[in-house]
Amino acid sequence: MAAVARLGALAFNTTNIPEWRRILVGMLGMEERPRTAETDPMLIRYDDLEYRLAFHPSEDDGLRLMTWEVDTPEELREIAAQVEGAGIAVEWHEHGDNDTRDWTESITFKDPQGFPLAVRYGATWDHNEFRPSGIVSGFVTGDMGLGHLVVIAEDYKGMVDFYLNVLGFKLSDYIVWDGADATFFHCNGRHHSLAIMNECFGQKGGQFNHFMVEVNDLDDTGRAYDLMTRSGVPLTMDFGRHTNDAMTSFYITSPSGFAMEVGNGGIVIDDEVWEVKTWRAPMRWGHELVKG
Ligand SMILES: [Fe+2]
Repeated sequence: MAAVARLGALAFNTTNIPEWRRILVGMLGMEERPRTAETDPMLIRYDDLEYRLAFHPSEDDGLRLMTWEVDTPEELREIAAQVEGAGIAVEWHEHGDNDTRDWTESITFKDPQGFPLAVRYGATWDHNEFRPSGIVSGFVTGDMGLGHLVVIAEDYKGMVDFYLNVLGFKLSDYIVWDGADATFFHCNGRHHSLAIMNECFGQKGGQFNHFMVEVNDLDDTGRAYDLMTRSGVPLTMDFGRHTNDAMTSFYITSPSGFAMEVGNGGIVIDDEVWEVKTWRAPMRWGHELVKG
């Protein structure tokens, strides 16, 4: 079975591009690509790819597309056949936008919960090396992809089954606490590129919970924390460290309502020796919920 290799890009609809820009470019030192029109998406890069995040001006806020990557046309064809084998229709696309040529070839479809997915190969890289322009020394991406994301599923078991058996993810572990059930998946060394949670804490299936960007070290996380909290960016969860991936992080409430996690030190999985386990709490310490 073919498997996706990494998380390539995330696109969101948003009502508040200026605040996203203030946080990502102004505080984290990511780079905004030139825009020609106000109706264009704001494209953000934080490594050598042309962009990792796209924010489309919209009347509402939410996930527009999660894009996974494979490395070859053959793998894309296999993934497409696996998705179609699960009874889900796929659409084929050539090279993205005619001007930007963001990738070589991709498919789009919806997962069983209705989240919009793409799988692509041949993403476009920028010939200029990325240089962070702020307090963060750099971001952990490369073969491990842009970071991770967490979504809420109404049919939790069905969604877990789809990502394992149709897209070829591997199990990392489980966390079970206070009525919440979470399954963590990896598709490369990053402890998880995806987690799926049941409906819990008032969250409904189809909700986008958060995405995470990993910075180089603890000083980066700490400085980002200081800058954001002092600049009036609201926190969802305070500084803390996760049980399963050992990441030290904090969560802001993004301008789109869902959370964004900034952290460092996530463990890298070696499949030869990895054991799937269950944790009974998401944090070793900290990560206190901040009441808005
Ligand atoms: Fe996370």
